[in-house]
Amino acid sequence: MARILVVDDEEGVRSFLAEALEFEGHSVTTAADGDEAARLLAKQGVDLLLTDLRMPGLDGLSLLRKVKEEQPDVEVVVLTAVGTVESAVAAMKAGAFDYLLKPVGSPAELRLTVARALERRALLNWKTEARQSTGEVELSWGAAAMVPVVEALRKVAPTQATVLLVGESGTGKEVTARALHQWSERADGPFVAVNCAALTETLLESELFGHEKGAFTGAVAQRRGRIELAQGGTFFLDEVGELKAELQAKLLRVLQERRFERVGGTRTLEADVRWVAATNRDLKGMMARGEFREDLYHRLAVFPIRLPSLRERREDLRPLAELLLRRIGEELGRPGLRLSSEALARLEAFTWPGNVRELRNALERAAILADGPVVEPRHLWLDPTGAPGPVDAPAPEGGRLPSLTLEELERRAIEQAIADEAGNRKRAAQRLGIGLRTLYDKLRRYEAP
Ligand SMILES: Nc1ncnc2c1ncn2[C@@H]1O[C@H](COP(=O)(O)OP(=O)(O)OP(=O)(O)O)[C@@H](O)[C@H]1O
Ligand SMILES: [Mg+2]
Repeated sequence: MARILVVDDEEGVRSFLAEALEFEGHSVTTAADGDEAARLLAKQGVDLLLTDLRMPGLDGLSLLRKVKEEQPDVEVVVLTAVGTVESAVAAMKAGAFDYLLKPVGSPAELRLTVARALERRALLNWKTEARQSTGEVELSWGAAAMVPVVEALRKVAPTQATVLLVGESGTGKEVTARALHQWSERADGPFVAVNCAALTETLLESELFGHEKGAFTGAVAQRRGRIELAQGGTFFLDEVGELKAELQAKLLRVLQERRFERVGGTRTLEADVRWVAATNRDLKGMMARGEFREDLYHRLAVFPIRLPSLRERREDLRPLAELLLRRIGEELGRPGLRLSSEALARLEAFTWPGNVRELRNALERAAILADGPVVEPRHLWLDPTGAPGPVDAPAPEGGRLPSLTLEELERRAIEQAIADEAGNRKRAAQRLGIGLRTLYDKLRRYEAP
């Protein structure tokens, strides 16, 4: 969820945009002209400014320049009428992220542009954060099964070798990639991740390589891709098994030659990045079926590391659970949260098909349900699919529910689903088995005084 300021002198346009963005779960403020927008910006923080260009008083372009000068990390998307694309170009030169043609007919286009602008902002913020953080990643890796893994990681981290992390979902592939970065000589450089499954082919290509002005419709300005943003640092290719054939070929070339061109460009740029890739798929099997290029596999798997599942490292369960619960306690402002020995026994008996991520989610849920500092078995709602014996339904101790009203219970379930889905309300609604509309209605009701 982001904070978005919508500026347009037409009431109809304002409310259309505000509604569409609120539906996505953003918190939206509106202003009728540039002056009002400038006043609002001075008072409240925003992540994204969506502004019309032609307005009475302070116009959109002047507003954009002012924002870029005073709050450069606010992303700006401008709205421009058909036939006045020159003004859009001027806006892009002044630092706008993108532009949308008016009238904005499709909410999908709006959604995509806004999502990309916010993603870019998150990426840039992350880069500065990554640069500033010097601390080690706090990981719990004590189990015997982890010893050879950690030893391999320590040895390969300072080299330039491409590392392929393989492991079931939730085994810690991403945190491991970050650890590799922090233990390398590139730790002061950026860590840039791209999820190969989340972007479409065309988007992925321009995200990775960037594009030149005019490379395709909509490319009104040159844009640097993520490989360029990652110069001097580590590039993490997450879910690399999802790459389509055409991109596999393009990626292979960068890995082989350490060079690339922006989409639509002729100049060859050097890729000074250390590659780390991750997958939960069986790349060798995919290779045998012709779904994954053999040459690419060998480029990626210079140094393959398999992360064991939580089932294979049972001794880690206790220290991991304690570490995670401590962190959750800090996040919730409830330090001192701990597990009763019965609760721990219950966790130890569980099979954890979703590995560390599932453990973390279970603990977070339990922490929310437990009113006091101690997590008891009745607070642990474990998914029956991972139960050790006969179906282990979330039956509370003694058949009694914790003393909650139905409404409180519902509210907690909703908060949990939203947290599990990292704020994505559409997926949270799916997880809860209700419609998005219903979810919004319920949220609104909670917010009502
Ligand atoms: N050794 C560890 N110590 C502490 N926390 C860990 C450890 N391993 C994983 N985690 C935590 O578990 C969660 C899942 O880890 P991560 O996202 O790295 O897994 P993943 O393998 O990338 O999962 P997926 O395949 O679902 O993308 C994160 O919250 C992470 O912080
Ligand atoms: Mg991952």
